Formats: sequence, structure tokens, C-alpha cells
Amino acid sequence: MINRELLEKYNHPVPRYTSYPPANFFTDEFGPAKYLKAVDDSNGWKPQNISIYIHIPFCLKMCFFCGCNSYALRQKEVVDAYHKALIQEIKMVTSRLDKNRKVSQIHYGGGTPNAVPVEYLQEINELLFSTFQFIPDPEIAIEVNPAYLTFEQMTGLKKAGFNRFSLGIQDFDTEVLDAVNRDKPGMPVQELMAFLKQDSPEIAVNLDFIYGLPKQTALNFAETIQKAIELKPDRLVTFSYAHVPWVSKIQKKLEKVGLPASDEKIKMFEAAYSLLTQNGYEAIGMDHYANANDELTIARKNKQLHRNFQGYCTRRTTGQVYAFGVTGISQLSGVYAQNTKSIDEYIAKINQGELTTIKGYALTDQQVIVREVINELMCNEQIVWNGIGERLGFTSEEIKKNTTYNPELLQQFEADGIISLSEEKIQITPDGQLFIRNVAASLDPLTQAGQTNFSKPV
Ligand SMILES: C[S@@+](CC[C@H](N)C(=O)[O-])C[C@H]1O[C@@H](n2cnc3c(N)ncnc32)[C@H](O)[C@@H]1O
Ligand code: SF4
Repeated sequence: MINRELLEKYNHPVPRYTSYPPANFFTDEFGPAKYLKAVDDSNGWKPQNISIYIHIPFCLKMCFFCGCNSYALRQKEVVDAYHKALIQEIKMVTSRLDKNRKVSQIHYGGGTPNAVPVEYLQEINELLFSTFQFIPDPEIAIEVNPAYLTFEQMTGLKKAGFNRFSLGIQDFDTEVLDAVNRDKPGMPVQELMAFLKQDSPEIAVNLDFIYGLPKQTALNFAETIQKAIELKPDRLVTFSYAHVPWVSKIQKKLEKVGLPASDEKIKMFEAAYSLLTQNGYEAIGMDHYANANDELTIARKNKQLHRNFQGYCTRRTTGQVYAFGVTGISQLSGVYAQNTKSIDEYIAKINQGELTTIKGYALTDQQVIVREVINELMCNEQIVWNGIGERLGFTSEEIKKNTTYNPELLQQFEADGIISLSEEKIQITPDGQLFIRNVAASLDPLTQAGQTNFSKPV
């Protein structure tokens, strides 16, 4: 199915474009004062909706593949102090937000949000529910590790208002889980899902998988995906294992166990892609899948898909993202701002009434244009130049000039069957899906200036 020649040619490191500019461009000249100014200004920025990200950094056991901002669970006093600091930080920032604006999305990520007492999450949600107005059917989402879910915890999480649960399965094969130091779910995933959805038809369940881990083969990963399909999740993600040991040192341990060859990894992707698309799931971007009536599937068809650090979203739920907790990245129209990575520093500074922004980025006017172009390509698999021009108030030519639009390179992509090209439009072909990041990188002045520390597309 996948053209091997093209893969050889294009499977080289390119940014993931979960943000533009990518997070490695953030600078430490951007501190709390600049962030607070941006928070004030953001009351006038579009889209008006408020999206809230809360980072719970703790994990009960560290998985060797982990590329997330996660830390081993600390003593109860530290977790308590972290929870208090989160509440404090939320009050400090949200007191500056215009309360006529509505919240469209809350997302808890980690680490493992269900590694802390459920009452803590309840308290934070109550604070947000009582502070803001919400759009109808807002998304209140949480990433959970199924190894630690109990009936009691699930009841608490449902009471706290969560309506989307992402269960980190990674693989159903216990040999794979053992090799990466991960506990298996405490009860059958079918039972977990049934309990979450029981009497709550509005609750959606996503399942997360990773391919490219030790002990995985195309054959056993296909079995895992087959099992997943039988569970009928609303959405499913198959992340390509990103091996970046220079960032996540713990990943070095996997090199000792042995990672699958890149050809085998490609076969895993192919197996998952064909199984899922033949069983009623639509591919959203490279690694996400959603069922036919899912909001994301519909948004993709209508070219209304959006993306932030938390994943794909629609124009309905998209908003300015205000992030809370260690490593949290706020994504506002003109600015990105990231909090400190140190739990102790975070608690100490917030207790003194200071924010902990350690780095960030204020986009130039040109970068706002490039971001729109790259997002449009990454989410909706096309660039209609005058559509973007109309949205931003420029001509098509002006938009092109702000990118590194290179007709020769684009013609090469076209000759390789990755895109179809016209004056008005770049359209990714079905075969080109895998190489969207390469096409995006060709239009990106920052990447063209030479940056290489990224993972490969597959
Ligand atoms: C914060 S974790 C999810 C919640 C919980 N900590 C868990 O593991 O179940 C987010 C997801 O990122 C994915 N992930 C983590 N490290 C990764 C890596 N190095 N490459 C690709 N995906 C990764 C995993 O699928 C994981 O479920
Ligand atoms: S994958 Fe999840 S549980 Fe494992 S270390 Fe990373 S954040 Fe923690």
C-alpha cells in the first residue's frame, strides 16, 4: 500500500507541527510579564472561546518510551501543594479574562491525571464551572492510564463532569507492556468502557496506541488493533513511537531491549491503517481515527478541522488555550508561553504570587501567516491560497510570498504523486497523506533555514 521508494526518499526528520513555530523555537527571553500582557490582550483576539489545559505531571510508574512531561509520583505533601498551586495559578490568570467569553474545552493531560485523588480534579472543575460560562456541550476531556482506573475513581470522574476519556492502552500484548515497564489495565478494557458509558450516552472514549515499541511486530500490532476495533471506541490514535533520547533520557533503555526495524514499523502503520479504515474509521491526519459520525470526521469533510497541542479539534471547540501547571504551554493567537518544568519551583513561585513562564514566543506578522498556511495543510490536507488570504486580509500572492513557496520543489512533490498543484491550490493526494509534514516543511521559512532535531514521519 505504501510506496516504499517515496518513503525512503521522504522519511527524514521534519517538525510535527503540533504548533507553529515548533516548540524548540521558544526562547527564554519570554517571561511572566510578557505572558500576562498577552493574557490581557487575548480578550480581544479571535477565536474568542476559552480552552483550558491542565497538566498533572505525576505517574505511578515510568514507561520507558515516554516522551511526555511526566515525573515519578511524589510524596502526598508535594501532590497536595501542587494541587493548591494549580488552583492559585488558575485564579491569577482567569481573573484577567473577560467573563463574556465562553469556555469550549477543558483538557487534563500529563503525566497521569488519574494518579492524583479525584477530589482534586473535581475541585478544579468546580472552580472553572463557577467562574465561566460554557458553550453548549463543551468538551471536558481527561487522559487516563487504565492500569489505575477503579469503579470508584470512574464514578468520581464522571461526577466531576468529564465527558471524554482517553485511555492509554499502547498495546494489548503484555510482553510489549513488560518490555516498556508499563502495567496492564486493572480490569478488561471492555468493562472500563462499559462502565464509563453506562447511563451517560454523551461520554466518549478514545483509545491511544503506540507502534514502534520493542517486541512489537506488524502481526501482533494488527492483533492489538483488531481487539481495539471490537471495543468500538469513538476515536483511536496510533502514535508513531517518537524516539528522541536526547530529550527523554529514559528512552535509552529501549535501545538496550531493541527497537523494531524501520521496515517493520512501517508495516505496523500499514496494518493499523488498513484495518481501521476497512472497519468504519476515518483517518484524521496521520495517526488519528474517528468513527463516521464523530465531530472530527464531519469537520474534516467540511474542511473545518483545527489542531492544538491537545490534538485535533473543530472550529466549534477551538479557542485561545490557557495552560496551567508545570510544562503547560498556553497557545494564544499571537503568543506561546510555557511554564517551568520544575515542580518545586512551580509551587514556590505560585505561592509567592508569581507566574512561572520560562519560555515562549511572540509570533511575527509573517509567522501568523505561515502558521495559518501550515495548519490548513496539516488539518485539512489542502491550501486554498485565496481562502487564507480572505481570512487574514491579504492577496494570494502576498500569502505565498510570506512562505518559502518553491515551485520547483512543489513540482517534485507533484511528480511523486504527493500533491496536486495549481495556481490556486495545493491538494494533498490520498497517497501523499504520509508526507504532509514534508510539504509543510517546504513552505516553512524556519525549517528551510535548517533545523534537524525532529523525529521521522513514520
Ligand atoms: C500523557 S500520556 C496519556 C495518559 C497516561 N499517562 C497514559 O500513559 O496512559 C499521552 C500519550 O502519549 C503517547 N506517547 C507517550 N510517549 C510517546 C512517544 N515517545 N512517542 C509517541 N507517543 C507517545 C502515549 O500513547 C500516551 O498515551
Ligand atoms: S506514558 Fe503515561 S503513564 Fe507512562 S510515563 Fe508517560 S505519561 Fe506516565
